[in-house]
Amino acid sequence: MTFHIRPYFPTVISLFILTALSASIVFADTSRTPVNDRMTWPEGTPRSDAAVDLGRHLFFDPRLVLSEDQSCASCHSPHAAFADSVARDLTAHKDWGRAKRNSPTIYNLTDAPVVHWDGRTPAGQCFTPEDTNTEVCLEPLESQAFKSMRSRKIYDGFLPKVKAEPAYQDMFKQAFPPNGEVTHLNMALAIAAFERSLVSNDSAYDRYIAGDPTALSVEARRGFEIYEGKGNCAACHNGPNLTDWQFHNIGVDSDDEGRSAKIEDEDKKAEFRGAFKTPGLRNVALTAPYMHDGSIGTLEKVVEFYDRGGDRHDNLSPLIEPLNLTDREKWDLIAFLNALTHTVGIEPPSIPGIAEIH
Ligand code: HEC
Ligand code: HEC
Repeated sequence: MTFHIRPYFPTVISLFILTALSASIVFADTSRTPVNDRMTWPEGTPRSDAAVDLGRHLFFDPRLVLSEDQSCASCHSPHAAFADSVARDLTAHKDWGRAKRNSPTIYNLTDAPVVHWDGRTPAGQCFTPEDTNTEVCLEPLESQAFKSMRSRKIYDGFLPKVKAEPAYQDMFKQAFPPNGEVTHLNMALAIAAFERSLVSNDSAYDRYIAGDPTALSVEARRGFEIYEGKGNCAACHNGPNLTDWQFHNIGVDSDDEGRSAKIEDEDKKAEFRGAFKTPGLRNVALTAPYMHDGSIGTLEKVVEFYDRGGDRHDNLSPLIEPLNLTDREKWDLIAFLNALTHTVGIEPPSIPGIAEIH
């Protein structure tokens, strides 16, 4: 049995020469809210260590797919801040073909009002699990895990395999006492509990906004000013997770309709053509390639992209315009993006019934 985590090619762009100390920055912007270090657990979702631990095992279990060589972690790898390092075209798998889009990070999604690039998974989606016949309405993370496991043929074999493992049976009993039923719903609740435990809140940026002026390099501090000022990045990438959770067309050259394909109303449909959910920027230095289609390979190229005002100008957001940044301003902005890195140490667990993980 081989356990695949895709190779990770980090973008090394953070070598800067320290220059003189710059003036301290005055805080005025209320959008600079730190991430809460407390995980939020919506009503009705399991919150125990046992549920998180079970979810971690399921998340790394390569028996997720029929050919037993792909887990959630194959595309959401701890080595790439729970994203992956391939563009969508390379995300092909023999059981299910090509992924349409680039895998996003799953850090800090505990408060996400929607998930997926097109926002197709909002809070409050309702399902009737086949084994209970009772309707449940789920949060986005629970919904995403439940929907994918229940509706995709390639994941069909996973539940019986998990059910057959004595070690999993014990874990389900601890996570869902007293019966510990192995159901798609309980699997989804446990996986979402694990995802909720992935909190990134101690980057250099967090320490800086918490009041330590030395946490950011001089370059990153200048970059922060550009982020909020001349670069206008904070118009959309704001709040604790550096996203407004809204949908914008920023001019990525792609034929993917994005949000508009999920909207019925014709006027609104046109408004959202080519618009995607603003991604949070935490750990962005680790999650290349970028954009919904993985079409931009490095942060340098992302900054160049914004500097020229995007590539495709039909239905472009009015917030995107050429920036005319100097070379130094571009490097400073990249230094700031590099200061958003903080990951938690999660190693692949040993999986019940699988002797060795390579
Ligand atoms: C083959 C690669 C692949 C596998 C396997 C995979 N994902 Fe994903 N995941 C993706 C892609 C690509 C997206 C973005 C799809 C979109 O938005 O249209 C995504 C989106 C998500 C999101 C939404 C994130 C956001 O911010 O919008 C979550 C949560 C998630 N996946 C969790 C999981 C879980 C849990 C599993 C295992 C049950 C899993 N994924 C398995 C590739 C994968
Ligand atoms: C109008 C809102 C808006 C503005 C302004 C904006 N962004 Fe974005 N940003 C987005 C959206 C939406 C996406 C995803 C677009 C897509 O995939 O088509 C994105 C994607 C990104 C990504 C890729 C993240 C990933 O995980 O793939 C980075 C990095 C980024 N923006 C940084 C910046 C920087 C730096 C600035 C300022 C120079 C900026 N953004 C300005 C909305 C915005």
